[in-house]
Amino acid sequence: MNDLFKQAANDLVAAKNVVALTGAGFSVESGIPPFRGKGGLWEKFNPMEYAHIDAFMKNPTKVWNVLLKGLKEIIEKAQPNDAHKGLARLEELGILKTIITQNIDGLHQKAGNTDIIEFHGNFAWHRCLDCDKRCETERIDLTVIPPRCECGGIYRPEFVFFGETIPPQDLRRSELVASQCDIMLVVGTSAVVQPAAFMPLIAKGAGAKIIEINPEKTPLTASISDYLLMGKAGEVINGIMAEIEKLLSH
Ligand code: APR
Repeated sequence: MNDLFKQAANDLVAAKNVVALTGAGFSVESGIPPFRGKGGLWEKFNPMEYAHIDAFMKNPTKVWNVLLKGLKEIIEKAQPNDAHKGLARLEELGILKTIITQNIDGLHQKAGNTDIIEFHGNFAWHRCLDCDKRCETERIDLTVIPPRCECGGIYRPEFVFFGETIPPQDLRRSELVASQCDIMLVVGTSAVVQPAAFMPLIAKGAGAKIIEINPEKTPLTASISDYLLMGKAGEVINGIMAEIEKLLSH
């Protein structure tokens, strides 16, 4: 793997415009479970029953009790891990320009990255279904489920449920940065949910090198990724960053 750390470090230092696409695997080492694979949330709950907008509108109490309450507690406790810190350092070095994240945990912001497209929105804010008033998640009172706004309306998270569209400005900007990058780092995503999983194909089509980091192969590995660093995001990014610091110290 060491040779791959060196290869990735050389590629990244030589790049002019690196974009990262991150998924739930990126935050596993921060204590947030992924959705698919080992320990995945969707192994326990059926996403169509709890994470679809129709399910939420039909029974907000159930979705708040089974999915959202737990998610709030886990996310509030989560801190950036080595992988998040590595991408913040890559931005500091002027190598990484933009992160397209599918994650709603806000950990890339907490780590210090400044240009982040939250493809599936975020869990930092909630909005009243009736009057559209926004409320920061940390100020949502969970003694009453579902939590309600002063107007009596129910609060919903600002993330994108299944059955909802990606905010058009985020989709358009993601397509644009994917078409302009010379490297796309694809980290911690099973690459099965569209249209997020289409971003690496746009980058590849525009001539970018696709570097994948994941303990497992994904549908991208064989045909789209130039190479896969098989391992956990924190360990692999630590290894790459160590090689980059060596390159830059000469
Ligand atoms: N480091 C890196 N990758 C990891 C780690 C780790 N420590 N642990 C697991 N993974 C990988 C898994 O191998 C898998 O490929 O992370 C990926 C997690 O896949 P998913 O749980 O499907 O996450 P993601 O691809 O982000 O899901 C996409 O689906 O449910 C929706 O909206 C939700 O944004 C989410 C979307």
